[in-house]
Amino acid sequence: MDKIRIIGGSPLNGIIRIGGAKNASLPLMAACLLTDEPVTFKNIPDLADITSMAILLEHLGVQIGQGIDSPENGGLQLPSMTLTASHVKTTIAPYDLVRRMRASVLVLGPLLARMGQAVVSMPGGCAIGTRPIDLHLKAMEALGAEITLEEGYVHARAPHGLKGASHTFPLVTVTGTENLLMCACLADGETTLRNAAREPEVIDLANCLVSMGAQISGIGTDTLVIQGVSRLHGATHTVVADRIETGTYAIGALMTGGQVDLIGTDPSLLPTFVPLLEEMGAIITPTAHGFHVDGRNKPQHGVDIMTEPFPGFPTDLQAQIMTLMSVAQGASMITETIFENRFMHVPELQRLGASINVHGASAMIRGKPQLIGAPVMATDLRASVSLVLAGMAAQGETIVSRVYHLDRGYEHVEDKLAACGINIERIRGRDHDTEDHCAA
Ligand code: UD1
Repeated sequence: MDKIRIIGGSPLNGIIRIGGAKNASLPLMAACLLTDEPVTFKNIPDLADITSMAILLEHLGVQIGQGIDSPENGGLQLPSMTLTASHVKTTIAPYDLVRRMRASVLVLGPLLARMGQAVVSMPGGCAIGTRPIDLHLKAMEALGAEITLEEGYVHARAPHGLKGASHTFPLVTVTGTENLLMCACLADGETTLRNAAREPEVIDLANCLVSMGAQISGIGTDTLVIQGVSRLHGATHTVVADRIETGTYAIGALMTGGQVDLIGTDPSLLPTFVPLLEEMGAIITPTAHGFHVDGRNKPQHGVDIMTEPFPGFPTDLQAQIMTLMSVAQGASMITETIFENRFMHVPELQRLGASINVHGASAMIRGKPQLIGAPVMATDLRASVSLVLAGMAAQGETIVSRVYHLDRGYEHVEDKLAACGINIERIRGRDHDTEDHCAA
């Protein structure tokens, strides 16, 4: 398995192009199942999770073509993907394809809505918690689906089509909202989804569905009202920027005392994070194609945060901000409210000398002037990039193993960092990844 080797101490200085959001691309790709016409996505990132979703969709009968789109977005060429589900050849998503990525469950809603049936393997647990899909299934039942669980598979049927209904999610669920949005577009009549997720990736999916002919109001609020239509058509859609990649590199600049121009992104995607980073010492200036982060003040203050659904602080930036806190002046506190087991990076950061105490869902971080490089192991996607950040700020050599987690969600990470002056290289391993994945 590949490893990443970093020699810390160099500032992150330069320009980084932010890719399309992984967590927007996955539901968008699944949405191609709702129509028999081609759907084209621009700004699709080059990531292992995108490949996993493409393999699953091809198994279901989707034809996929890839290309490079004409220059835009600051004069850069954007990768594009066209998906055509003119003939869905099976409505079964098998265990071997689903287990590798939790977000595979996003094919359940569109298959059920268009084909009237779907059999999808249960995604199972993952490193950051149990992560059930009961909220997806209950909401589908509210739309008239008959659901049974047999031998590890969800069997969903709506032989006479789904029926619009009013449903309140008891908890905010991102992929649950996305699955239900896709169901409701082709349901008979009006559906109201309350306590819906408002993440930018949900908004991106809703906007794409509208350009495919769906009728959705309340986009960007916690109440979505969908008037079902009998069919959707093809469309071309540009994937929203990856706000987690954006935040990660912004933290990198502040951790290393550098300056970066993040292009192809937008600070409004991070309404809680940007002011917090400013409070910690960053100077953030919007630019024509993104924003500039001046981190030369290094982290000045400890801060307290709580992870929450959007627009609150994103759980997917929790591990990275903890790394920054571990070199800030003073103490910081993190309370993780979304996932029950999302402090797996703590023992690894402690190996680099970070001072962190975990009590239940909270972690107290006492900043230290210097971390010291060490061998560490990535445990999940966001934890792995937090170890890369730590290595960038640490004295000496850090080797991060199990970097297949990183490849799921960070596009060409070592190339982007090396181009900005970080001493980083990938050490190629012999074995291929055979581990299970979960999307985060
Ligand atoms: C999505 C993101 C992930 C992010 C998370 C929270 C994708 C592909 N992944 O994951 O990166 O960390 O949102 O922002 O977009 N829950 C239930 N039952 C359910 C569904 C969820 O109990 O049926 C719980 C989960 O265990 C978790 C909480 O609800 O504690 C929120 O999970 P959810 O928003 O559904 O996360 P995902 O959509 O899986």
